[in-house]
Amino acid sequence: MDLAGRVAFVTGGSGDVGAAVSQSLATAGVDVALSYVGNADGAAKTVDAIQALGRRALAVQVDQRDPAAIDAATRQVVERFGRVDMLVNNAAWNIGIPFKNLDALTSDVWDRVLETNLRGPFLLARALAPHLREHGCGRIVNIASIGGLYPTSSSIAYSASKAGLIHLTRCLAVALAPEVTVNCVAPGLIEGTRMAQRLPDEVANGVRDKVVLGRTASIADIAEQVVTFCRSESITGQVLVIDGGEPGCMR
Ligand SMILES: NC(=O)c1ccc[n+]([C@@H]2O[C@H](COP(=O)([O-])OP(=O)(O)OC[C@H]3O[C@@H](n4cnc5c(N)ncnc54)[C@H](OP(=O)(O)O)[C@@H]3O)[C@@H](O)[C@H]2O)c1
Repeated sequence: MDLAGRVAFVTGGSGDVGAAVSQSLATAGVDVALSYVGNADGAAKTVDAIQALGRRALAVQVDQRDPAAIDAATRQVVERFGRVDMLVNNAAWNIGIPFKNLDALTSDVWDRVLETNLRGPFLLARALAPHLREHGCGRIVNIASIGGLYPTSSSIAYSASKAGLIHLTRCLAVALAPEVTVNCVAPGLIEGTRMAQRLPDEVANGVRDKVVLGRTASIADIAEQVVTFCRSESITGQVLVIDGGEPGCMR
């Protein structure tokens, strides 16, 4: 599908992956609304980059733990662009808590992770569904993690939230067919992101040693796969792992 002239809403456009996804979509001719919470400078940089590519851009501040804020942001985006064809659920929050330290995973942390990473994407999909359906060729792409497929990540809450997001992908693919396709990218460690840089060296190097390509995911690979899912007319309900080839993830 030719994406030129269409409109996308990319959550977390102030972050590393969200900025790259926004720019890849803009390169494909898409106008982009992007959300941020605290990083207004990052959002402004992404807006500038999209405009430099000749496309329209809008940054909206929204804490996606708040259902009312999601509805308000949706209205703002629709008012500005008149339509929304694509939703990229990229925003997420995490905190490092070793799996074995169950007591450190408080109910507050659990709720913050699940509300941001799982309930938020559902509420965004629900709010945008009428607009995604309107022209018969809507797209949702969710950014999960291999932590949602295998019990390894920054915390049990993060893994559970991403596992939920993967299954939400399949449920929404059924719910929104045939007008909207819903797919998911599950990255491993993404080189060059602040999230990856926060990992202790021994952990990051352990991952690089394990993957058969000797390097893990790149930001560009994630962004291009999002564009590919948006272009495709016959893929829905799918999860694509991008991780440099962890043998355990090859199935
Ligand atoms: N980096 C990796 O190695 C890696 C690996 C696997 C999966 N992923 C996934 O890839 C996606 C992007 O990661 P990234 O590395 O680009 O992360 P990032 O740079 O930390 O960006 C995260 C984004 O989420 C936004 N956000 C956080 N809490 C939010 C909330 N309550 N409401 C709305 N937005 C919120 C942040 O907004 P502000 O900054 O404006 O506050 C930011 O724009 C995430 O879904 C992550 O789980 C990343």
